Amino acid sequence: MITMADPQLAVTEGALAQGVMQLRSCAILGLDGDGQINACNAGVEAIFGYSRDELCGKGFACLFSAADAGRGADRQVLERALEQNFEEMGLPMVRKDGTRFRATLMLEQVGTAQQPQVLVVVRDISEYFQTQKRVREAQEIALRAQRLDAVGKLTLGLSHDFNNLLSVIGNSLDMLAARRTGDESARRIMDIAHRAVERGTQLTRQMLAFGRGQTLVPQRSHVHDLVYGSLELYRRVCGQTIQLGVELEKDLPPISVDVGQLEAALLNLLSNSRDAMHGVGKVVLEARKQTMLVPNGHGEEAPFVCITVGDSGPGIQAEIQDSVFEPFFTTKGVGDGSGLGLSQVYGFAAQSGGTAIIGTSALGGAAISLCFPVAYATA
Ligand SMILES: Nc1ncnc2c1ncn2[C@@H]1O[C@H](COP(=O)(O)OP(=O)(O)O)[C@@H](O)[C@H]1O
Ligand SMILES: [Mg+2]
Repeated sequence: MITMADPQLAVTEGALAQGVMQLRSCAILGLDGDGQINACNAGVEAIFGYSRDELCGKGFACLFSAADAGRGADRQVLERALEQNFEEMGLPMVRKDGTRFRATLMLEQVGTAQQPQVLVVVRDISEYFQTQKRVREAQEIALRAQRLDAVGKLTLGLSHDFNNLLSVIGNSLDMLAARRTGDESARRIMDIAHRAVERGTQLTRQMLAFGRGQTLVPQRSHVHDLVYGSLELYRRVCGQTIQLGVELEKDLPPISVDVGQLEAALLNLLSNSRDAMHGVGKVVLEARKQTMLVPNGHGEEAPFVCITVGDSGPGIQAEIQDSVFEPFFTTKGVGDGSGLGLSQVYGFAAQSGGTAIIGTSALGGAAISLCFPVAYATA
């Protein structure tokens, strides 16, 4: 049987107390009833960056930001612990160097009514918090991708059906044209019908792109070559009244993309910017290397090259940001928009192992990025 006078127990307790004083994974502080720190363990150094001597004698408020302390956050926590004997909460706290971090605090009243003493245990949970945040973000991205994937399957089926119908119409028109009746007005009508078939075929191609049913021919390429190779075309889409700037980061690693589809995607983005700005404003085509979450929902990160088209237009309202990648979503009038531009952009990026992201441009308008995984050289 162990009694309090047991010398063995005294040794064990002494070792425990010493261990608690040396513990670095959490900061343990003793506060008097006025919130003055009168004892602390080695954890304060690891977590707050103060030495133990430095912290003893200071007020508890020094571990909070000036704004939080101004609102009385430190006093409230202490008072609750004094009233209820125990308090547990999550709060932002501040290190000696001024950085804020997420902390959990456990406070317990261990003194007497005459001489109150509160023991505070602080843990830095910012890493856990960041991991949770990243997992949540990854789940959101995966969920959005799943939704677009389901719509994509539907669109793919539709585009095949329409393509077959358009082939039949196109072939029939070709056969009629071959008869050469010499009827000028009939020929004009057939020309109109032919153009409609061509336009329809173009639309089904975009639907196919969104449904990831295209046959892509990826080539290991450098963004610099891709952008400057088609710059003339991009300038033409922007027109005379839109200033197009190009800002490519130096020494970008190569990516593996279908060159024709990338050009189509950038043309879609530039024409959207032109429309959003009603033909007048600034557009910048940027590319930079970025570490990003891999769009597989597991929370892993990898290097990507993001090509962004940002403009000085009105931007995309938050309420519709979730919908713009969907096929047929358009805010333009009938005949002006097909709602298939951004779905081509998204489908192409996703089929290439990347993703498309909506953001805000430094110019104040929308910024849409096409992000592709870096294509490292295979030995
Ligand atoms: N740069 C942009 N600025 C503001 N809104 C944009 C921009 N790009 C796209 N949008 C919005 O997204 C919608 C969908 O674009 P898109 O798929 O290309 O179809 P469409 O251009 O045929 O409308 C547009 O109708 C518009 O509301
Ligand atoms: Mg468009």
